[in-house]
Amino acid sequence: MSRHRRYLVYLYVGMVLAVGSVFTYFALGRQPIAPDQWVPLFCFTVFLIIADRFEVRTSQGGQWLPTAIIDLAVIMTLGASAAMIMEGVSILVGDGFVKRRSPLKLAFNMPATVMSVGAAGLIFHALPFSGDLTSPLFLLPALVAYMVFSGLNMMLAAIVVAISEGRRLNLVWRADYGWHFLSGFLTAPLSAFLVFSYEYAGLWSLLLFGLPLYIIWQSHKLFEEMKEAHINTVAALTTALEADEPYTHGHSYRVAKYAVQIGQRMGMSPAELEELEYAGLLHDIGKIAITNDIVCKPARLTKDEFDILASHPSIGSEIVSQMKFLKGAADLVRHHHERPDGKGYPDGLKGDEIQLGSRILNCCDAIDAMTSNRPYRAARTLEQCMEELRRFKGTQFDAEVVETIEAMVEAGDFEIIAQTDGAALEIQRIVREAARKHEEEIAYPFPAA
Ligand SMILES: [Fe+2]
Ligand SMILES: [Fe+2]
Repeated sequence: MSRHRRYLVYLYVGMVLAVGSVFTYFALGRQPIAPDQWVPLFCFTVFLIIADRFEVRTSQGGQWLPTAIIDLAVIMTLGASAAMIMEGVSILVGDGFVKRRSPLKLAFNMPATVMSVGAAGLIFHALPFSGDLTSPLFLLPALVAYMVFSGLNMMLAAIVVAISEGRRLNLVWRADYGWHFLSGFLTAPLSAFLVFSYEYAGLWSLLLFGLPLYIIWQSHKLFEEMKEAHINTVAALTTALEADEPYTHGHSYRVAKYAVQIGQRMGMSPAELEELEYAGLLHDIGKIAITNDIVCKPARLTKDEFDILASHPSIGSEIVSQMKFLKGAADLVRHHHERPDGKGYPDGLKGDEIQLGSRILNCCDAIDAMTSNRPYRAARTLEQCMEELRRFKGTQFDAEVVETIEAMVEAGDFEIIAQTDGAALEIQRIVREAARKHEEEIAYPFPAA
């Protein structure tokens, strides 16, 4: 982070701390805590600190907070002040002592969350039906409270990300936080459910409620692990295909990495980024149907050879579309050689007719080709590569994508991945080893006498 940005972050955190303190000072007295509410408040706080250890993260870095269920339940049963005290203590213990976050993070998280939960609490109790537990309309103020809580909290956090990473706020919001609103439809009913059981059974309902929460967390974790395993399998498959050719080795892996960074910067959602990552890893998979004499030819291709090579995006997209969980990536694979001026292939699409993901892949493909060593020329530097992108901006490369990469390079957020990157090399070593063993077996089919 540049010094200029760092000062801006300090300034912003200072502002949040000041506003949060003033808000807390005035809001705490609005819904006083009754003497018999301190024990339940203590138990809910312990429950929150434990639940915070079981955060649900998605592979793209998003997260769903099961803790919001507890926040809402405390707002509904004990009031806004209780929820603010609970959050304050839980962040101090959880972030400060358990996760050992930096003082700067603590100085931001504490006022931002306390303020958000306080505002949600005050608004919840001012809304109609908030006291009517037996009516389904009770869910409406619960949903509004969730929107206020998560909306305010996430917006304050998105501003920090936008300042520290130099990204546009609306793009950060869309990419990292926008989808959180949907999770309110899961959180609000669950918190209502916790309130029902608490009102009926008292504190031991917390234990009872912890079990389904744990199951949700467990199954989500499993799902994320499976998805990661899928990505790793796909990466291993493509890297194995590239193992024959040292010059393109690791190409798909690097293209996928670049594409996700750029997509993130351009505000793609976690689901779109996942598709883009798969498409990056598999964009050249169609080359398996083309003979190595053409794919690896070190000299210029003849017209016929080029036509054969140009069929790889459509073959690849057909292969990819056969895999159920990769359907969305098939289109991106098909169009990764289209150009904004319509001179690309296979469909000759123009400008915006080409999906953003394919436009990104097209640039990443070129960046990796230029910055890798080839038998007939050495790798170009990032600056030389950027010059080339600028020169063909709008004709060969999408203008918006090139401008995004330029901004990333300027901010120091874009670096060339070395051809010798560890993960790719490791897979290459495994494939070579397997091939060597296989050859040995063929060479000595009979055991020595
Ligand atoms: Fe390609
Ligand atoms: Fe490629």
